[in-house]
Formats: sequence, C-alpha cells, structure tokens
Amino acid sequence: MSKRRPLVAGNWKMNGSLALVDEMKSALEASEFANTDVLVCPPFPYLGSLASDGFILGAQNHSKFDAGAHTGETSAAMLKEFGCRYVIVGHSERREDNNESNLDVAEKVETAINAGLIPILCVGESEQTRDAGKENEFIAEQLDAVLKLIGIANVAKIVIAYEPIWAIGTGKTASPEQAQAVHEFIRSHLTKENADVAASVQILYGGSVKASNAATLFSQPDIDGGLIGGASLNAEEFLAICQAANA
Ligand code: PGA
Repeated sequence: MSKRRPLVAGNWKMNGSLALVDEMKSALEASEFANTDVLVCPPFPYLGSLASDGFILGAQNHSKFDAGAHTGETSAAMLKEFGCRYVIVGHSERREDNNESNLDVAEKVETAINAGLIPILCVGESEQTRDAGKENEFIAEQLDAVLKLIGIANVAKIVIAYEPIWAIGTGKTASPEQAQAVHEFIRSHLTKENADVAASVQILYGGSVKASNAATLFSQPDIDGGLIGGASLNAEEFLAICQAANA
C-alpha cells in the first residue's frame, strides 16, 4: 500500500512576530512542495496577515463551544472564516496549562469537524508513563474518548499527531523505531473499528523534529509527516523539513 500524502505543520506556539510572518511568507511563497501539504499554525493575531497562496493555514486552538458568552475564546467557525483549514486540538501543553480533559479534547474535535475544519488531534505519553511501559494504553484512552464521541467514520476527517511529551522541546527525539511502533499501534487500534479509515488517516510525528532527523522519521511506514515546534520558527530549517517530507 502506498503511503498517505505527507503533511508538515509548523506549530509556532506562543512565539513569533510580524517580522517572522513576513520572513516565513516570502520563504514559503518562493518554494514548491508538489507532494506535501505545508501548514503554518501561528498565534491567532497573525492568522489574518499570514493568509497566502503559498501554504495552508491552521490555528492552535479553538473553543469547544460554537458561539456565545465565552469571553476570550475563538470559535471554529471564525477560524474557518479567516482561511484556516486545520486546527491543532489537544496539544499536551494545552492539556496541561488549561486542564483540557480527554472529553474537552473530544468535544473540540467534534466542534472543529462541524465547522468544516480538519482537527489535528494530538496524543502522547509522559516520560513516566513510557518508563512504566504504559504508553499504548495511555494513547488508546486518549483516542477512545474521541472515537466514542465522533465515531470511526469521522476519523476520516481528522489528522492524528503522536507527540511524546518527553520529546517536545527537549531536543530528545523519539527514535524512528520508537515513533514507528506507536504510529503502528495507533493504526492497529483504529483498524479494530474500520480498516479503511485506519489505513488512510494521516499520522504525524511531533517532538524535536529537525532538518537533520526529519528524513529518517518520515521514511517510517506509518509516519506521514510532522508537527514541528521550535524548528518551525526558522524559515530555512522549516523548509528543509518540508523538503524531507516532499522527497
Ligand atoms: P518541538 O514541538 O518540535 O519544539 O519539540 C513540537 C510540538 O509541540 O508540536
């Protein structure tokens, strides 16, 4: 079976500036990635100025509510209106900083789909969970909360990102074998519900991906691209990662 189309998403987190917006825009507009979807997910204020033909736009979060009295929140419909195609959901930093539960995350996945956005559902274990050998169990629980709410057919409308917490921003990347093992587990877990959906869903790896390790990670059979944090803040480095996916 041929692999799925690669996707590389830059997650700026709470970083960036108008200068970085300009730099990234010109770098990406000047590049062509025929075989890869390239996605930039800046903080909300930069979404409007980043809308461009050269790449796809995503947000980093949205409200689980559709609209109304939720001061400070942003709806999925607003993001759609601003040109976003994707939204990151359930990043471990949001699960931790904002106490987002598996149910909150599932509700956000559902709200995003209903608004016509593609949620990038993040899952991944802590170092402690891995040391205890319970990473698959932990990830299955994160996936099952979403499956229970949206059903397997809707999994065809999402992207999954495996991001081991111990590898995020630490420079400690999962080895290609470690990452592949979890990606394979995620696919086999979904296969129990629907083999076609499981075979076609894109599963990205995130956690200290750099230009120097991207190619070996992306060459694994169940890794369909990456969710890139720190390295997405440097245009040259980010383009090299996109190139590795596109090769
Ligand atoms: P990192 O972050 O590439 O800086 O490790 C990845 C992420 O959190 O999406």
